[in-house]
Amino acid sequence: MPFPGRSLCGTVNGMTETMRAISQDTLGGPEVLREVELPRPDPGPSQLLVRVRAAGLNPTDWKHRALPGLFLPAPPFVLGWDVSGVVEAVGPGVTLFAPGDEVFGMLPYPHGHGSLAEYVVGPARAFAHKPAGVDHIVAGATPLAALTAWQALVDTARIEAGQRVLIHAAAGGVGHLAVQIAKARGAYVIGTASAAKHDHLRALGADELIDYRTVDFADAVRDVDVVLDTLGPENCRRSLPTLRPGGLLVSILALRDAELPALAAERGVRFASLLVEADHEGMRAVAGLLESGALSPTIAGVFPLAEAPKAHALGETDRTLGKLVITVD
Ligand SMILES: NC(=O)c1ccc[n+]([C@@H]2O[C@H](COP(=O)([O-])OP(=O)(O)OC[C@H]3O[C@@H](n4cnc5c(N)ncnc54)[C@H](OP(=O)(O)O)[C@@H]3O)[C@@H](O)[C@H]2O)c1
Repeated sequence: MPFPGRSLCGTVNGMTETMRAISQDTLGGPEVLREVELPRPDPGPSQLLVRVRAAGLNPTDWKHRALPGLFLPAPPFVLGWDVSGVVEAVGPGVTLFAPGDEVFGMLPYPHGHGSLAEYVVGPARAFAHKPAGVDHIVAGATPLAALTAWQALVDTARIEAGQRVLIHAAAGGVGHLAVQIAKARGAYVIGTASAAKHDHLRALGADELIDYRTVDFADAVRDVDVVLDTLGPENCRRSLPTLRPGGLLVSILALRDAELPALAAERGVRFASLLVEADHEGMRAVAGLLESGALSPTIAGVFPLAEAPKAHALGETDRTLGKLVITVD
């Protein structure tokens, strides 16, 4: 089925309703993304139909757009996992939300994609109520990256006040939210980022910053309780000596490396590899942090739906500070 979860079409007076969406027929560069008309989905059991107002982009969007052999079958498909919008309709059995509610969430990763469209369906419990004081752009920027940071640092590492945490690519979508989540838990935060981004990260709460272009973090950092790796297996290997005995390295980019658990065990430290999951409790926690001001995503750029190719091209430079967001009128 080309569009998972969207076999049911909305109809009015027997006429199929359609919606604009960004789709692709082949893998390739940003130019394969095209604006198309598709049938509007209907919510199935336990699902919401959400009118999308904003959809954050993540590196997995451009990876899935271009690379074969990731998680999805071949295109055509509509990408996009982050969403903030308004509940248009609820499927049977939904008790937490009603039409008109403002919600935000991450569609189930990897197979629930489809938020680069005017409407999307997803399980009700992938969403939380959007705090009233937070706009759709900020809410749409947040879910996947914040849930990743939350699931790594809180659910997996269970970081505590006073612990030392090393966050790689601290200026990235995940990294800059991880800095804020770690600070909200009372941790001491060390981040790696290029020097031009240090002031911004200090303002977000980072205690120590390492310019990875001039300083080797593997020499500069010792005795951390937790490392969050966002760069890959080689970076994981180089990070192991920075941990205190019994410390934990959580990677979000080393799923296919079978050697790391043993390498960590040889050094008396622990290793975990994480793939973000749709998470109602996590979304509620993220909503609370946004509402309190403890979490505030940096918006690197905002693009209308039709300019999704431009946003993808900017994102895949791997240099953006914070999050790119697509808005849907
Ligand atoms: N497993 C999962 O569930 C999961 C979830 C989310 C993301 N991910 C993956 O995690 C990775 C990071 O995601 P993201 O959204 O944070 O990416 P991102 O926002 O695109 O990251 C961009 C940032 O990375 C920094 N950077 C690049 N190379 C660096 C290096 N060698 N050292 C330190 N910083 C460096 C850049 O800062 P400078 O300009 O200062 O270099 C830039 O600010 C991606 O590969 C993504 O696919 C996995």
